[in-house]
Amino acid sequence: VTFSKSHGEYLISDDPALVDVDVVHGWLTDASYWARGRTRETVVRSIANSIPLGVYHRGVTVGFARLVTDRSTFAWLCDVFVLEEHRGAGLGKALVDAAVTHPDLQEVERFVLATADAHDLYGRYGFEILDRPDRWMIRRGSTA
Ligand SMILES: CC(C)(COP(=O)(O)OP(=O)(O)OC[C@H]1O[C@@H](n2cnc3c(N)ncnc32)[C@H](O)[C@@H]1OP(=O)(O)O)[C@@H](O)C(=O)NCCC(=O)NCCS
Repeated sequence: VTFSKSHGEYLISDDPALVDVDVVHGWLTDASYWARGRTRETVVRSIANSIPLGVYHRGVTVGFARLVTDRSTFAWLCDVFVLEEHRGAGLGKALVDAAVTHPDLQEVERFVLATADAHDLYGRYGFEILDRPDRWMIRRGSTA
């Protein structure tokens, strides 16, 4: 069963079959500040093992976000983007809203994410700065 929401002429859907991997890979690898150089194979595997949220305009992929989750306790929101020509129309907000209202994630105890500058966008959907960053640790892989 797939989850979708419409936003004007746009559709947001979690159906992996709809995602144009070339658009997602192309934007992440060439334009993002966090996934430069990510391979197409990695993008394919990451989508297969996440809940992908695609933004579609007449079937064409124009935005994306990905939820890495166990669908019970935890979800990591990442790889969020809207193609430049489609920005400013509320799609970024619609994507974050779709992420936190996804029917499979209503029991999740923690949604987390990392952002360089979009704190205000996520803050509108309940995300806060970590109050105890000393309780969190990170182990970087060789590619991060
Ligand atoms: C961030 C992004 C997805 C927003 O998409 P969008 O469709 O233009 O967003 P919306 O039209 O829903 O508007 C976002 C709102 O959040 C605000 N905002 C706060 N920080 C922002 C930021 N860093 N970038 C964009 N908007 C931001 C905007 O001002 C806007 O406020 P408004 O509703 O009062 O006008 C888009 O700008 C993008 O793809 N940026 C490059 C990739 C990126 O930075 N992704 C997020 C990584 S954490």
